[in-house]
Amino acid sequence: MKTVTARAFSNIAFIKYWGNTDDQLRLPVNSSLSMNLDGIYTETSVRWDEALASDELTLNNEQASGASLNRVVAHLDSIRQRANIQTYAQVLSSNNFPTGAGIASSASAFAALTLAATQAAGLDLNKHELSTLARIGSGSASRSIPAGFVEWHKGESHDESYAESIAAPDYWDLVDVIAIVNSGHKAVGSREGHHSANTSDLQGARVAGAAQRLEICKKALLERDFATFAEVVEHDSNLMHAVMMTSRPPLFYWLPPTLAIMEQVRLWREVGLHVCYTLDAGPNVHCLCLAQDADEVKAGLAKLTGVEQVRSAIPGGAAHVISVSEG
Ligand code: PMV
Repeated sequence: MKTVTARAFSNIAFIKYWGNTDDQLRLPVNSSLSMNLDGIYTETSVRWDEALASDELTLNNEQASGASLNRVVAHLDSIRQRANIQTYAQVLSSNNFPTGAGIASSASAFAALTLAATQAAGLDLNKHELSTLARIGSGSASRSIPAGFVEWHKGESHDESYAESIAAPDYWDLVDVIAIVNSGHKAVGSREGHHSANTSDLQGARVAGAAQRLEICKKALLERDFATFAEVVEHDSNLMHAVMMTSRPPLFYWLPPTLAIMEQVRLWREVGLHVCYTLDAGPNVHCLCLAQDADEVKAGLAKLTGVEQVRSAIPGGAAHVISVSEG
């Protein structure tokens, strides 16, 4: 028996994923684009053990049960099927960022779990297949498998829906400066959110323009054209939040400081800082900026009312194995 430990970084989407065409397979309604976040990661060890009567999960040093265990068991089922094994697994997983710090962990968690569990089962899968498998656990996890700047092709089937790197981490000196305004758990998670996306009259319009926005964003990224990048990234985030707010029941993720930060970011850009905002399914604001302006953005954010904490990350690498031990 061997224990494999893998590490995967979280990621932030520039062009968002919101809504599925197939909830079971997690096939998204649109393709998305993201950047891995260096230094913000999950580390997961997996050992398949003939002696176990069920899967066991330890999350941040605590025995897990209920919903988080069930979600991991369901993911291990997919891996058992792929590896053609019946054995149960012992899984130890921890985030290097405080749980509840308001930074999404499902992307890094399911990417690390997929890599560790497949390797421990003796499978040596390529990035394409790892990405499709990680996607089953959490859509955005597909994007935490490859390195740097990543595109997730929506695809029409399990095999076609995968993420690949479009540029290495050092391609562009971007920094994600995260203003944490609420470290509590989000009221409605993204899983339920994807279900309700279609109840918004605006989802059709958001999805209709998504492919074009992705092309504009990708070109801006590859040409390191910050002005175009900033405009399309903010617009795409606003569109997703407009869908959230107009879903039934509505999902309002913003808190008062969220809006104040968005406004401040826009003002900073007007006076010459290279910075723009994007938000996930929560109130924290990801301020994407050029490295040359990162210190100023960090200092400015720390002074704003309602900002509890500021973290930052440069583009991160691919999910990778950090240790393999026998026994
Ligand atoms: O992978 P999920 O189910 O956590 O969905 C992620 C959804 C957003 O973070 C809001 C957008 C995205 O593309 O990451």
